[in-house]
Amino acid sequence: MVARAFQLYLLLTAVFAAVVDFEEAGAKADDSAEEVEWKNGALLNQSLAALRPGDVLQVPGKTFYLMGGIQAHNLAHVVIRIDGTLKFSDKKKAWPRIGGKVLPCMRFQNVSNVTFTSQQRGTLDGQGAAWWGYLRYLENEENRPRLWEMDVVKDVMVEKLLLTNSPYWTTWFTQVDGLEIRDADILNRRNGRRGHDLWNLGAFNTDGWDLQGTNVWVHHSKVWNQDDCFTVKGSSSNMLFENIEASGLGLTIGSQGGKDVVTNITFRNVYMDRTYKGIYMKFRDVDKDEVSIIQNITYDNIYMKEPEQWAIWIGPAQQSDSRYFWEGHPCSLLWPSMPGAQCHPSERGIYRNILLRNITIDNPKMQPGVIWAGKSFPMKNLTFDSVRVVNWHKRKADLRYRVCDGVDSASALAIGGTSPTPACFRSNGSELLV
Ligand SMILES: *[C@@H]1O[C@H](CO)[C@@H](O)[C@H](O)[C@H]1NC(C)=O
Ligand SMILES: *[C@@H]1O[C@H](CO)[C@@H](O)[C@H](O)[C@H]1NC(C)=O
Ligand SMILES: *[C@@H]1O[C@H](CO)[C@@H](O)[C@H](O)[C@H]1NC(C)=O
Ligand SMILES: *[C@@H]1O[C@H](CO)[C@@H](O)[C@H](O)[C@H]1NC(C)=O
Ligand SMILES: *[C@@H]1O[C@H](CO)[C@@H](O)[C@H](O)[C@H]1NC(C)=O
Ligand SMILES: *[C@@H]1O[C@H](CO)[C@@H](O)[C@H](O)[C@H]1NC(C)=O
Ligand SMILES: *[C@@H]1O[C@H](CO)[C@@H](O)[C@H](O)[C@H]1NC(C)=O
Ligand SMILES: *[C@@H]1O[C@H](CO)[C@@H](O)[C@H](O)[C@H]1NC(C)=O
Repeated sequence: MVARAFQLYLLLTAVFAAVVDFEEAGAKADDSAEEVEWKNGALLNQSLAALRPGDVLQVPGKTFYLMGGIQAHNLAHVVIRIDGTLKFSDKKKAWPRIGGKVLPCMRFQNVSNVTFTSQQRGTLDGQGAAWWGYLRYLENEENRPRLWEMDVVKDVMVEKLLLTNSPYWTTWFTQVDGLEIRDADILNRRNGRRGHDLWNLGAFNTDGWDLQGTNVWVHHSKVWNQDDCFTVKGSSSNMLFENIEASGLGLTIGSQGGKDVVTNITFRNVYMDRTYKGIYMKFRDVDKDEVSIIQNITYDNIYMKEPEQWAIWIGPAQQSDSRYFWEGHPCSLLWPSMPGAQCHPSERGIYRNILLRNITIDNPKMQPGVIWAGKSFPMKNLTFDSVRVVNWHKRKADLRYRVCDGVDSASALAIGGTSPTPACFRSNGSELLV
């Protein structure tokens, strides 16, 4: 009965549903004056607040400059169609703040059965160049706007969009239950160079899809950025990432901490061109009375073309949380190249039931990886099946994992032509046959 009544409700709302055009509602295109940005931003706030079930909000195929801090609450059964570009202000001083902290470009709270789409390819542009760089990092640190936040997300579709030039994390979708992302790309780079040099890496913290929750399917999406590309965060489960391309800090789980549990995550059919990291699972330091778990994880059919840093990293987070960016929390970004740089495994992070299968690391710039847990909870049931380095042009003696430690060797298996075999794994000899 309830379902019936609800269907009737939807039918009735469909009859009275409206297509709201952003420009017809008063938005002004192609004008980046600050007053226009404020007016367009306020209008987007109002237009979102006015949406009723069945409505479509349409941004026509032009460029609209707007101030950030866009907020929408309790949206349900609507379509947001972006045919043009929403370009967020680069006027940092004017940016809305609460208690000194900048608001994100857009934030949606409690969204259900909402489709974000386009009739062509819509663009969200954060004009990140105004916020990126080493000197600006010392000034703003991480007080930079995320491009798109959503919290409490139920049955949402994101498609046919380009998210670009994000000042900080591109997305941060939390408490998700039911999300599909397809044919939607992320691009955060400072120039066209194919790779991640120090200049491009200065677009700090420009994470791609940062997702926390359950029942997520991401496919046919490309990310090129300077931090984690496709990222499972917090406590999360039942996520599938497939038929994707990524170049940046990789296919990431973490950094986990607190009591986070991650389970049943698959990445498969992935092409990674000159990525910085490839497969990247990471724990922060976990408090004394807590443990954090990453389990039941599969990485399958992944090709890395000329990875520039670590192709495989299963260990502590290699990152810094402060302006002292050379410090490790818990593993320094400068480890191991700078003598004295700190790096230690996370003692209360648990890795178990992890399968890497059919992974090709083609002509890496560095040794293939790091596999590193603490002594209290060694990694259990770790399988490398056909994980191979090909076109190794450096010294033969260096063709080995840089660290292989804190692993329960009895349940760590290298099979299917895995080469090189991580030193702390058991190998039943099958790799010699291939
Ligand atoms: C949009 O609304 C939020 C919440 O009321 C507000 O903080 C923000 O400044 C508004 N943004 C613009 C551009 O008006
Ligand atoms: C979330 O949004 C739905 C639909 O608009 C509404 O019914 C529900 O009360 C909202 N939940 C909260 C916690 O505000
Ligand atoms: C989702 O919303 C659309 C309108 O955008 C509506 O036609 C459809 O029936 C809704 N689906 C569910 C399951 O409520
Ligand atoms: C694992 O996640 C997938 C979705 O990616 C889901 O289809 C499957 O049922 C989940 N398995 C378990 C045991 O929950
Ligand atoms: C994780 O995998 C183990 C063994 O494969 C299985 O017993 C367990 O049910 C799985 N847990 C989840 C939450 O998928
Ligand atoms: C292994 O992965 C590659 C992509 O790197 C794919 O082309 C190939 O079909 C996969 N092989 C198997 C046996 O799945
Ligand atoms: C070991 O992990 C694999 C997935 O890699 C899983 O299928 C298997 O059930 C796990 N074994 C145990 C004993 O948990
Ligand atoms: C090696 O291990 C694999 C997977 O467990 C198994 O299929 C294969 O038969 C084993 N080979 C030998 C020589 O024991």
